[in-house]
Amino acid sequence: MTTVDFFHGNYAPVREELTVFDLDVTGTIPAELDGRLLRIGPNPVEDPKPTDHWFTGSGMAHGVQLRDGRAQWYRNRYVNGDHVADALGRPRMPGPRHEGGDGNANTNIIGHAGKTWALVEGFSYPVELDHELGSVASNNFEGTLEGTFTAHPKRDPATGELHAVTYYFGWDFVRYVVVGVDGRVRRTVDVPTGHSPMIHDCSITESSVLLLDFPVHFDLDAAMAGASLPYLWKPDEVCRIGILPFDAPADDVVWCELDPCFVFHPMNSFDRADGTIQLDVCKHESMFDTVTNGPAEGPPRLHRWILDPATGSVREELLDDRNQEFPRVDERQVGRDARYGYTVGFVGEEGPAFKRDLHTNEVELHDFGPGRSTQEMVFVPRSEDADEDDGWCMSYVHDANTDTADVVILNAQDFSGEPQAIVHLPQRVPYGFHGNWVPNR
Ligand SMILES: [Fe+2]
Repeated sequence: MTTVDFFHGNYAPVREELTVFDLDVTGTIPAELDGRLLRIGPNPVEDPKPTDHWFTGSGMAHGVQLRDGRAQWYRNRYVNGDHVADALGRPRMPGPRHEGGDGNANTNIIGHAGKTWALVEGFSYPVELDHELGSVASNNFEGTLEGTFTAHPKRDPATGELHAVTYYFGWDFVRYVVVGVDGRVRRTVDVPTGHSPMIHDCSITESSVLLLDFPVHFDLDAAMAGASLPYLWKPDEVCRIGILPFDAPADDVVWCELDPCFVFHPMNSFDRADGTIQLDVCKHESMFDTVTNGPAEGPPRLHRWILDPATGSVREELLDDRNQEFPRVDERQVGRDARYGYTVGFVGEEGPAFKRDLHTNEVELHDFGPGRSTQEMVFVPRSEDADEDDGWCMSYVHDANTDTADVVILNAQDFSGEPQAIVHLPQRVPYGFHGNWVPNR
C-alpha cells in the first residue's frame, strides 16, 4: 500500500477568502438564471503533507450568484469546523458535534428547507451556512438526526424529501434516513450488514432506496496506526446492492450480489416495467487497495446494472470505457427514467465533459480547450416546468495555462458548441467534490 500527493497543482488549497462583486463575463448570462452555483471541496487550513488523505481536508465553499443577467458576486469561505476555527483564531460555531467529528464538512453543498447546508459523511453533522457562505452552526436537523449523515442525500422529485444512507465506524448496520421538507428527520431504518462499510452515496427509484454495500470497510489496524480515514479494500467481503422499499422494515431488504468493485457515485436509477431496476454507475474496479489516501486505483468507467429483486441477480453492461466520474442528471428526473446524463473526466484529467442520451447511449462531448479541466456539471432547467434538456449545464473550470478558474455555462441543447457565457473568477477553485445550483426563489 502506498500514498500519492493529492495536494499539488490545482488540488492545493487557496488561502484567501474573497468577496468580489460584478464579475467579468464573456457572452450573455441568461436572465432566467437567478440563484447561486455552489461548490465545495477540501482545502486544508494548514499546509498539507503529501501523504494526507484527500477526503479529510478542511471544507471550503465557493459560490457565484447570478441574477438579472449579471454575475453579482463570488465568495469563498472556510467551513468553520473546530480545527479551522482554532487554526484561524476564530470563535467556534454553535451547535452539537457528533462523536469523532469537529464540524468539518467538505463534500457537498445543497439547499434544503430554506437553508444552505455543507455536508460530509461518517463524522460531522451537517453545517448550516448563510446565503453568503458563512458558517452558522453545526446542525443535526434540529436534534432529529440520530448518528451521522451523508454528503449525498437524494431529493425525491415527487415529495421534495431527502433520502439518505448513513454509516459510522462503530456500526454493524447502515442507516436509511428520510429528511422531510421541513428539514427534520421523519424516518430512520437500521439495516444490519454485519460489517462497517464506507457508503458514500445512494440511489433511489420512485419506490425504493438502493443501499451500496461495497467491500471498502473500516480497518481497525489502520485506525490504530493513525490513518485519518481508515477504510480499506476488502475484496473477500460481500459486494452487493440492497433494495429497500421506502416504507418497508429492514427485514424486507433484497440484496443483489456483484463481483468485487466500488462505486462512489450512481448516475441514476429507476423502476422498470418488468419489475427490475436500472442503475447506472461510475464503477471503480477497486478502491483503497494499493493507494490508501485517495481514489487512484485506475479510471472509473460508466456501467449499467439491471437489478432483479425476484432473483437477486445483476446484469452488467459497459456503457463507456472512457475515464469519467461525478455523474449527474436533471434533478427533476432523479429516480425516474432520465433521458440525459452528464459526466466529466475524473479530477485532474484534461478530459471532455460528456452528455449522454441514456436511451440510445449516444454521446456529445464538450472540450474546454487545452489545459482546461472541468469539475462536476450541474444541469439547471430554464424554468421549473421546462422540458428535460431545456436549460444549461454549468461547472467550475480550471485553466492550467493561467492557473485561474471560470464558471462555464453551456446550452444543454448545444452541448458541443460555444459556451453561452463564461464567468471569470478572481482566483482558482481547487479540485474538489460536489456542487449544486440553489435558486434564489
Ligand atoms: Fe461524492
